[in-house]
Amino acid sequence: MTSAVSSLTIRLLEEGDLELLAHVFRFSRHHIEGRWRERLAGERTMLVAERDGEALGSVSFGEREEFPRLLYLFALAVVEPFQRQGIGSRLVVSVEAEARRRGVEGICLAVAVDNEGAIRLYERLGYRRTGEPFISRWTWYGPDGETREIVERCYRMVRRLGSGGRLIVGKRVGHPRLKAGHQI
Ligand SMILES: CC(C)(COP(=O)(O)OP(=O)(O)OC[C@H]1O[C@@H](n2cnc3c(N)ncnc32)[C@H](O)[C@@H]1OP(=O)(O)O)[C@@H](O)C(=O)NCCC(=O)NCCS
Repeated sequence: MTSAVSSLTIRLLEEGDLELLAHVFRFSRHHIEGRWRERLAGERTMLVAERDGEALGSVSFGEREEFPRLLYLFALAVVEPFQRQGIGSRLVVSVEAEARRRGVEGICLAVAVDNEGAIRLYERLGYRRTGEPFISRWTWYGPDGETREIVERCYRMVRRLGSGGRLIVGKRVGHPRLKAGHQI
């Protein structure tokens, strides 16, 4: 059987994808536009996993002052019928590839303590919990403009990319900016 992942393309999100993403993830247009503004401000880069022109998953990442030398990965999501096909893992691995290109030391993220599936995925990919669980607060935006304040107990997880000799730890290497439509 051909793996569903073999024909998957991981690429940078473009403005024209916003409507599609809002639809598949049931986000409001307002929410998606907010994401796009953050993208333009350089606060987040979004990757989309696509097959046959259909968006199946997405992940965001960015550099954060509070996590120097790391890339912060967030908002990983795969459309439900397409979960458990390796798409989430592919998206995480693509962020790692970008982290290597930038010469940062690793990836860090937050995951809700009860999100067992996601924790297992991250652990399988080499992420380890660090520090005590902490409380994360964020706003969920529904498709009809409704909002919900989410308060979650989270683990911080980190994966160091130093092994394998592919990264010179501590040395920032120049990295060309990813271009729209760039495939990872
Ligand atoms: C967490 C999430 C992104 C994972 O995405 P995914 O595409 O299902 O992830 P993967 O398929 O790479 O891995 C998940 C499981 O599928 C399994 N899998 C991978 N390829 C597979 C395949 N070809 N056939 C069957 N199972 C497969 C993996 O082994 C893994 O199994 P495990 O749970 O026993 O470790 C997805 O469940 C999701 O969107 N959840 C809601 C949002 C969320 O919680 N995001 C995380 C925030 S931190």
